[in-house]
Amino acid sequence: MLDLKRQYRPLHQELMDAIGAVLQTQQFILGEPVAAFERAAAAQLGVAHALGCSSGTDALWLALAAAQLGPGAAVVTTPFSFFASVSSILRAGATPVLADIDPVSFNLSPAAVSAALDGPRGAVVRAILPVHLYGQTIEWPSFARIAYERGLIIIEDAAQAWGAEWNGVKAGGLGDIAAFSFYPTKNLSAAGDAGMVTTNSDALAERVKMLRQQGMRRRYYHDELGWNARMDGFQGAVLAVKLKYIGAWNEARRALAARYHALFAQAGLAEAGPYPMNGVVLPRELPGARHVWHQYVIRAPRRDALREFLIARGIGSEIYYPLPLHQQKALKGLGYAAGDFPEAERAAREVLALPIFPELREDEQQTVVSAIAEFLS
Ligand SMILES: Cc1ncc(COP(=O)(O)O)c(C=O)c1O
Repeated sequence: MLDLKRQYRPLHQELMDAIGAVLQTQQFILGEPVAAFERAAAAQLGVAHALGCSSGTDALWLALAAAQLGPGAAVVTTPFSFFASVSSILRAGATPVLADIDPVSFNLSPAAVSAALDGPRGAVVRAILPVHLYGQTIEWPSFARIAYERGLIIIEDAAQAWGAEWNGVKAGGLGDIAAFSFYPTKNLSAAGDAGMVTTNSDALAERVKMLRQQGMRRRYYHDELGWNARMDGFQGAVLAVKLKYIGAWNEARRALAARYHALFAQAGLAEAGPYPMNGVVLPRELPGARHVWHQYVIRAPRRDALREFLIARGIGSEIYYPLPLHQQKALKGLGYAAGDFPEAERAAREVLALPIFPELREDEQQTVVSAIAEFLS
């Protein structure tokens, strides 16, 4: 599914040098190694502030806490995402309100968000937390309009979307504040856990800096209940090296996605969708979006049997995500039930992520498509 060693081998010496430089400075927490990465990251994304932190989950919590979304505030998000999109809202003390997804993009549906705002839980909604799932931004103009009309804050969950764009604006600079993850499988990845908050607001950035350091503005004077959510110097150094290559890596992913599209079409397997019949429904790049293909996710009939068939042939695949968040045991308290979000539930039954990483070879993609063709024949 993912061979991280192929990325590592050509970078070995450069990474060792960067890690060695951190050892020389003995600045292991934040400090110049992280500050240098933050400056380069902000410049690349075109945002005023980029602040390193301990993980994508903590980045989401920091963004919510910085925007003062706590007890009494509700935040609309998607049931079809990684757990942290919802758990971070709960950890901030706010209430998640869920809305269904669009079946084509798998991202939060603007119409469903509007309906949620008008529903009984919508009364106290102060923010929307959309996820740029699989590396494609949300359909931004609709969200911008809803936020403007209703006076809502937008917190981007950009964990999977480093380098993704809407009409030339990079994820991380679309909403009021955004959270990234550098978990090792992400397009831009650390050598461990790490994350980042981005914003164009000086006031929000100042609050994130305070909150990631135990709520301190002045050493040992705690203004608010912050947390230890700092980035390690080693992670900053590794990420600063990889930041130079992420543009080329994302381009490689785009070429791989185009080749999957062509291979499935040549095999006569590509269907119009949105749901699969006898072939597969391919992922789509929306007009206006620049997808960075963190994942290449098809919809397939008899998905679980197909996955077993691929495993038997040594082909990796993954299901992001097999159980929507409203059906998770840990989130029973939200009061939702099976059937509440039919698109998310259907996606959970049909999606299958195929191998996609910059070093994936053409013959490997052919093997994947041939095996799927064999299964479906
Ligand atoms: C959409 C989404 N949100 C949040 C996270 C949390 O990031 P992390 O694992 O770095 O805490 C992830 C990744 O794992 C993610 O994919």
